[in-house]
Amino acid sequence: MAASRGLWMGLVLLGVLGVLQTRAQDPVSVQPEFQQDKFLGRWFTAGLASNSSWFREKKAALSMCRSTVAPTEEGALNITSTFLRKNQCETRTLLLQPAGRPGRYTYTSPHWGSTYSVWVVDTDYKEFALLYSEGAKGPGQDFRMATLYSRSQTPGAELKQKFMAFCKAQGFTEDIVVFLPRNDKCMEEQD
Ligand SMILES: *[C@@H]1O[C@H](CO)[C@@H](O)[C@H](O)[C@H]1NC(C)=O
Ligand SMILES: *[C@@H]1O[C@H](CO)[C@@H](O)[C@H](O)[C@H]1NC(C)=O
Repeated sequence: MAASRGLWMGLVLLGVLGVLQTRAQDPVSVQPEFQQDKFLGRWFTAGLASNSSWFREKKAALSMCRSTVAPTEEGALNITSTFLRKNQCETRTLLLQPAGRPGRYTYTSPHWGSTYSVWVVDTDYKEFALLYSEGAKGPGQDFRMATLYSRSQTPGAELKQKFMAFCKAQGFTEDIVVFLPRNDKCMEEQD
């Protein structure tokens, strides 16, 4: 009796812990049947929300950034972004490693050694993608961010509303959601 009760308790606990663990690992869901090949190509970062203090300070000065998403031979995603910084166009590459299910990635900052999880939460591939990222390890651990990827430099009102609703669902307040203005300087291909 005591033994079976113990077993039962154990199973319940495992079940509960199992649920907690999945939640702890994945604060958001990914796009069902995510197809990475359709996610490739050109995107514009049209909206951002983050609770980092850096973002709070800089958000008014940020402008749209152009990103090209391509697969690497090793199966990672190469996101090369061009943005305006100190009146110059700068280019950075992020390598996202696939992590578990399709649409879920991790990124390790070569500079800080911090690891971030990235989820493609919702996308129609043709117009928009909603991404969520969170620091998992290292100095950036307390960082959370929502990103709006748009295929167009001029996302419509409906898409902006969709992003705002997404940000609120992730617990961001309206004052830390920004729609990034276009900057004509870095939006065209250099070559
Ligand atoms: C990522 O893409 C950029 C731009 O095409 C390229 O210069 C860079 O070598 C790529 N990096 C990797 C690791 O594939
Ligand atoms: C950002 O949000 C996370 C999760 O809610 C929290 O742990 C962290 O302290 C927040 N960071 C800042 C700078 O407020």
